[in-house]
Amino acid sequence: MDLQAVVDEIVAKMSPRLGEGKVADYIPELARVDPKQFGIAITTVDGQTYMAGDATVPFSIQSISKVFMLTLALGKMGESAWKRVGREPSGSSFNSIVQLEHEHGIPRNPFINAGAIVVTDMVLAGHKPREAIGEFLRFMRYLTDDDTVIIDAKVAKSEHLTGYRNFALANFMRGFGNLEHAVELVLGVYFHQCALAMNCVQLSRAGLYLANRGTNPLTGFSVVSPKRARRINALMLTCGHYDGSGDFAYHVGLPGKSGVGGGIMAIAPGKASIAVWSPGLNKVGNSALGSEALEMLTTRTGWSVF
Ligand code: DON
Repeated sequence: MDLQAVVDEIVAKMSPRLGEGKVADYIPELARVDPKQFGIAITTVDGQTYMAGDATVPFSIQSISKVFMLTLALGKMGESAWKRVGREPSGSSFNSIVQLEHEHGIPRNPFINAGAIVVTDMVLAGHKPREAIGEFLRFMRYLTDDDTVIIDAKVAKSEHLTGYRNFALANFMRGFGNLEHAVELVLGVYFHQCALAMNCVQLSRAGLYLANRGTNPLTGFSVVSPKRARRINALMLTCGHYDGSGDFAYHVGLPGKSGVGGGIMAIAPGKASIAVWSPGLNKVGNSALGSEALEMLTTRTGWSVF
């Protein structure tokens, strides 16, 4: 299959539609991003990268960081992590608080904001915030084999200044005893992980371990066991797009994780890791053109897991 032709065709189809959707504006720094951009990169498990459009323009990975932080937290805590966060889709928006009260401060899954904040609290254990941020950044550089990946401090600060809902979620969970560290410290780490800037090529490489049974085929580094890679993929399939997860599985058929920066990482197990980016979001906060591009990709390649 000519994957370069596939990504070129997707970019050609998307070009006239650039700017569709709505850029996230609750984080002021993200509202400034030019919406008329679209990039795609595929890195296959045999190490080839195919890219098109704005595939080398860095963007804020936002919630996609939750997959990598979950990987770190599971490495540290093992299965005991699941005492503090669930594994069920929430059917609510990514920043919803409604279920937390009835469910004793235990978030439904690690990808909604509440769950991700608990995961960050786990990674923070035994560290100062700057050390936890450093651990995350080193992990991302190790996964991409690229030391140029950076955290955009302006985005982190912008979110910190307007992160009222995340402060509400974190305080609520601290009240239930499900955060071990002070809210300010946990969110300091959380805002920085979300502010990691990457381009599609780097992000597609970072996800490769999930496509290749836990081992990065580019470096040979074993990141997680095959079983853990399978389980993280299962969570991305069921919860990776919040209340749009069912629709994403229906149309795309791959485990995937979105971010409000407009990026989506999708995993075709045994085949490839894919990153798409376009800042305009659909109604449930996932990249509008990115989701459609992935549907085109799985239609053309037959890579749906179903
Ligand atoms: O906490 C937030 O609201 C953002 N830093 C991340 C949210 C996000 O990316 C949701 N994804 N589609």
